[in-house]
Amino acid sequence: MGADLDHKAVERAYARWAPVYDIVFNRIMDTGRRAAVAAAAKAGRRILDVGVGTGLELPYFGPNHEIVGVDLSEPMLRKAQERVASKQLKQVTGLCVMDAQRLAVADASFDAVIAPYVITTVPDPMGALDELARVVKPGGEIVLLNHISADSGPRASFERWLGRQTQHLGWRPEFPWERISSWYENRPHITLVERRTMPPLGLFALIRFSVGPKVTDAFKTAI
Ligand SMILES: C[S@@+](CC[C@H](N)C(=O)[O-])C[C@H]1O[C@@H](n2cnc3c(N)ncnc32)[C@H](O)[C@@H]1O
Repeated sequence: MGADLDHKAVERAYARWAPVYDIVFNRIMDTGRRAAVAAAAKAGRRILDVGVGTGLELPYFGPNHEIVGVDLSEPMLRKAQERVASKQLKQVTGLCVMDAQRLAVADASFDAVIAPYVITTVPDPMGALDELARVVKPGGEIVLLNHISADSGPRASFERWLGRQTQHLGWRPEFPWERISSWYENRPHITLVERRTMPPLGLFALIRFSVGPKVTDAFKTAI
């Protein structure tokens, strides 16, 4: 595996990406964004968009939603702010600098959390997933779009090679499904609802989890 990520490397990488991000990543990853928004939108009105970046997914939410977007990168958020202003996206009620691993958000305060193309970019993906689950109301959903790396073959070799560029890219090209499955399989209040392959070339997956009531240790002993 290549050098891993830390917040400074991620901030540096996205400060470099911000001016060209939309040109490189808008169309190629748009099918996934639209599918993720459609899924999150069904879960309820209040939605937290974690790693909102330049806000490419924001126009896909309807006027009846209330979206708060957070991101570690100020340059990316500035682009999101420009998009919200130019497109008059009234459904976006806030954009703030925030770390996915330490959300300054109360427990169970959103109907859904959406994180498109984000979890492979955070230094501690499992810690971030726990944070996302914490802020979702019981009965709500977590919707992720994530690159899932190949187990074997030429793609796996390429991803291993690309993994050496992790710090420079700002994401991990190597991200096996086991990183996700080991998270939810050990969380009794989390259920995998859907895993759907997404373009381009099936490199990405739309992953949905429902969040149930937290199973406390006392309850676990009782059953
Ligand atoms: C690949 S971009 C995805 C942006 C957008 N969601 C999209 O669909 O285009 C990943 C974003 O996650 C943000 N990010 C990385 N680590 C983060 C963290 N720990 N907390 C919040 N945002 C983070 C980056 O700054 C970047 O804007």
